[in-house]
Amino acid sequence: MNFHFNLLAPIYNRLIKQRYPKELMENLDFNGEGKLLEIGGGTGRFAAYFLDKVHEVIIIEPAEKMLRQIHISYPEIEAIKGYAEELPFDDNSIDYVIVSDAFHHWSKQLDGLKEAYRVLKKDGFIAMEEIHPRTNWGRFIRWMEKLALMGSVFYTPEELMNLFSEVGFEIINNDWTRSPTYFVIARK
Ligand SMILES: C[S@@+](CC[C@H](N)C(=O)[O-])C[C@H]1O[C@@H](n2cnc3c(N)ncnc32)[C@H](O)[C@@H]1O
Repeated sequence: MNFHFNLLAPIYNRLIKQRYPKELMENLDFNGEGKLLEIGGGTGRFAAYFLDKVHEVIIIEPAEKMLRQIHISYPEIEAIKGYAEELPFDDNSIDYVIVSDAFHHWSKQLDGLKEAYRVLKKDGFIAMEEIHPRTNWGRFIRWMEKLALMGSVFYTPEELMNLFSEVGFEIINNDWTRSPTYFVIARK
């Protein structure tokens, strides 16, 4: 997996359309305070939208060349090498977790979600944007990633919400009317 994203890192921003976290911003109540963690932050461009919304933005990212892009473009973001499945943070230490277009790449998705739950403070939020595998564009992405041997595992919104509930999260908002992505927001 790191192989693919290390390869893509220098051209990622030109190759992959920028995602603007409009829905997440509209549905989460930021007050300029707190710690926000993006898991699988890529080049940092998604997390960067939150720099003026919270006190501190942190990214966990396994691909070294992605980390380099973050350090160059956003030195104010603390970018740490790591995996969703083993977050290097204390229990109940993070206010917001965001995951954009990355969950389907996690190798142990349930373990990663449990980690997100562990590090979030009580009443902290997780907001996830994912590819809907049953939209036309979602099917195309699924096949492209299969051909590229990326090992991606995609969840429908219903499946993802069930997994969130299994871990203990309370779903507070979801939207799957847009193609190819949907988002789910949940509270610890
Ligand atoms: C498609 S990119 C999305 C980047 C960014 N979130 C964005 O929206 O622009 C997916 C990212 O997830 C990272 N990733 C893959 N497996 C991961 C894991 N197990 N834990 C955390 N991040 C992972 C990849 O290295 C890659 O940078």
